[in-house]
Amino acid sequence: MSKSSKRWLQEHNRDRYVNLARSRQLRSRAVFKLEELDRRHKLFRPGQTVVDLGAAPGSWSAYVVEKVRPGGKVIAVDLLDMQPIAGVVFLQADLNDAERLQYCIAELGENSADLVISDMAPNLSGIAAVDQAGSLNLAESAYRVACSVLREKGHFLVKLFQGSDSAAFGKQLAEKFDKVLQVKPRASRANSSELYILAKGYTM
Ligand SMILES: C[S@@+](CC[C@H](N)C(=O)[O-])C[C@H]1O[C@@H](n2cnc3c(N)ncnc32)[C@H](O)[C@@H]1O
Repeated sequence: MSKSSKRWLQEHNRDRYVNLARSRQLRSRAVFKLEELDRRHKLFRPGQTVVDLGAAPGSWSAYVVEKVRPGGKVIAVDLLDMQPIAGVVFLQADLNDAERLQYCIAELGENSADLVISDMAPNLSGIAAVDQAGSLNLAESAYRVACSVLREKGHFLVKLFQGSDSAAFGKQLAEKFDKVLQVKPRASRANSSELYILAKGYTM
């Protein structure tokens, strides 16, 4: 194991959200970020259709499926396989692959989703510019999905590693949504450049 992997593992094991997720038998610490964003921005309601991109190992989908009951629907997409979650439909696809992206859009159905949420992240290289470019590519793929599957006034939540192109991406979203906010949940590691963009009120 490399020095940086060892350091990451030590920090990961000391992280209070990692320990909390383990003690509650949750699939990932990522759920605490979504829980906080939901508390602050009232994202989920019973009956909604939610598309979860970059869903594995599944903590966001497991959280959302409870929130949209009864009558709701969660469709999860990831390039990795995911252990099944009752009530969640899973599609395995690489959203960087244009054909697979089109297949997902066709499966999801046009203008049918209330919310598209994306926690997709590239495999980290440790080189900031490379990781930011990878993250922006994924955020743009998520945006492409959102523009096809969101209903009028639907919302889009997307993770992005902050970099020189993040502001331009925010501006692009502002052309299609009523309101665009940058949010950094407390559970997001302070030393990480990750932030979330919440775009509310899609215009078809
Ligand atoms: C931080 S994890 C998501 C954690 C998840 N929100 C949860 O709560 O369990 C990021 C995910 O993005 C997925 N991902 C990365 N690139 C992708 C791509 N091109 N297409 C689909 N999923 C991708 C990874 O496989 C990984 O499972």
